[in-house]
Amino acid sequence: MVASPEIRVAINSDPDIVIARQKGRARAVELGFSSGDATLIATAISELARNIVAYAKKGMITLQVVNGSNRQGIAVTASDDGPGIPDIRQALRDGFSTSGSLGLGLPGVRRLMDEFEITSQPGRGTTSAATEMECSLLRSTASATAKRPPTRRE
Ligand SMILES: Nc1ncnc2c1ncn2[C@@H]1O[C@H](COP(=O)(O)OP(=O)(O)OP(=O)(O)O)[C@@H](O)[C@H]1O
Ligand SMILES: [Mg+2]
Repeated sequence: MVASPEIRVAINSDPDIVIARQKGRARAVELGFSSGDATLIATAISELARNIVAYAKKGMITLQVVNGSNRQGIAVTASDDGPGIPDIRQALRDGFSTSGSLGLGLPGVRRLMDEFEITSQPGRGTTSAATEMECSLLRSTASATAKRPPTRRE
């Protein structure tokens, strides 16, 4: 199988957030995610991209295909060289915001995606990585396996 190239979207302003969101949604649909799941992935991408514009001014969203044993997924990485987050636990709490906003972006991404990880060094920047795996591919493989006649070694 040919590895899909990663997609990188430079985030410098609000229109870039929309581009990252659209590219992420399109890639998720290509990978077999349902329309609803693709929208959730797109929402996570916009929250991370919006934080880049709001707090770091510029950064990058990278979309990569993740290959599991019998399913595929999408990994979204948001990285910036901005001010960083001094207390990540606090930043992940519902309602915590240093900009007077709702404080629901990061906790929302954590709830929407299968895996979510943030690393940040104050003064040096922030990297957030969120991954969602496509479960229906797993289910179809599992049922195909179940229908196969049992093999016996005697
Ligand atoms: N890339 C980043 N660089 C620096 N600080 C960040 C970054 N992303 C988030 N933060 C910090 O984490 C806090 C929580 O982020 P979160 O996205 O949850 O809420 P918000 O952006 O304040 O509000 P909302 O996303 O609901 O509009 C932010 O207020 C900000 O202090
Ligand atoms: Mg936010």
